[in-house]
Amino acid sequence: MNVTGTGPAGVGVAEPGFAARTARLDSPATIAMAVRARALRAEGHQVLSLALGEPDFATPHAVIEAAHRAALDGQTKYPPVDGTPALKAAIARKFERENGLAYTPAELMVSNGGKQVIFNAFMATIDAGDEIVIPSPYWVSYPLAARLFGGVPVFAACREEDGFRLTAPALEAALSPRTRWVVLNFPNNPTGAVVTLADLEAISEVLRRYPQAWILSDEIYEHLVFDGARHHSLAAVAPDLKSRILTLNGVSKSYAMTGWRIGYGGGPARLIRMMTRVQGNATSGVCSIAQAAAAAALDGPAGLVAEMRDTYARRRAMVVESLRAIPGVTCAMPQGAFYAYPGIAGCLGKTSQGGRMLRTDEDFAIALLDEQHVACVQGSAFGKGPYLRLSCATDDETLREACARIATFVAGLG
Ligand SMILES: Cc1ncc(COP(=O)(O)O)c(C=O)c1O
Repeated sequence: MNVTGTGPAGVGVAEPGFAARTARLDSPATIAMAVRARALRAEGHQVLSLALGEPDFATPHAVIEAAHRAALDGQTKYPPVDGTPALKAAIARKFERENGLAYTPAELMVSNGGKQVIFNAFMATIDAGDEIVIPSPYWVSYPLAARLFGGVPVFAACREEDGFRLTAPALEAALSPRTRWVVLNFPNNPTGAVVTLADLEAISEVLRRYPQAWILSDEIYEHLVFDGARHHSLAAVAPDLKSRILTLNGVSKSYAMTGWRIGYGGGPARLIRMMTRVQGNATSGVCSIAQAAAAAALDGPAGLVAEMRDTYARRRAMVVESLRAIPGVTCAMPQGAFYAYPGIAGCLGKTSQGGRMLRTDEDFAIALLDEQHVACVQGSAFGKGPYLRLSCATDDETLREACARIATFVAGLG
């Protein structure tokens, strides 16, 4: 694999003094947009940010109290690398209750966010040249982490006309004897797509034909499904594949706990053991106080999650309706997560009022930010343009005003 010359997207030249692998560490476009928005704000502009996937709710009060109690009770020493017994027990209860999945303590581990679960798993399993199959559009961190460890992302196209769901033929076309991982992420970031039970059964049939591949089922948005859609855990739908599946979840999205950095994985004991070895060498485990908080969240009343879900569902419908009313903009109604993913093909090839030629969705997103002070992220950063990803995890007033500014921006194109 070419790591020092120009190569596939995300592979460039390392700066002098830095390891070749750093060339594969692009700064995610999501962060780049947030930085640009911050700079405009510092200049005194009122910037509306729909760029980051971060809930605007506060962490539930009872969860904060549990953290306080844990600190006062002396839970302030190094915890076990794979997670405290109390949190692992709460995770096991959660998997059983919500997903119909039984995991023993040896099949569970806690990490610093879902992101570290992925890093542990990839570092433990990927050798140079291994292929990582990722449905596209995708969350930016999957290909980034895969490349960091020498893997080669292979994308399985999810089409707008299928509601961005992954179909079995699209998956099959991306698989090969070199496939090391298949990544599934439904409800999906960035499209909000949710796969049906029938989809998962067909996908499982394909996965059975590639027994060498591990399967990452990233279910971090599982609670955020709308309009009667249901989330199904792959390992429950296909128990015969459970020995190959790493089910990923966390408290960031469902419990508005992004800053506590708690994610977790359930999988076969031999994989969890190797991931634990990786994590032990990297971080010696996860903040003991945050683990106590996460246990309280998982064992807490389900009503809180339902309340947030209903709010996201309402906001998403409002945003999608506003976007659909803009000439040149299309928008599928997402069934899950908290993003809208409008298509803007009808707006390209035009010039903004500020005099910029809009050739790509990135041109659109940058001009929208600079001229109307609305921050979002271009779809091409998630593998599919020309689209935008708008996060609906912000208050109604901001969302209404942002949609109005997008309409003004588009009306000014000539
Ligand atoms: C699809 C998906 N998976 C996992 C994560 C990881 O979240 P965290 O590291 O906060 O647990 C995110 C966060 O944006 C995400 O969008």
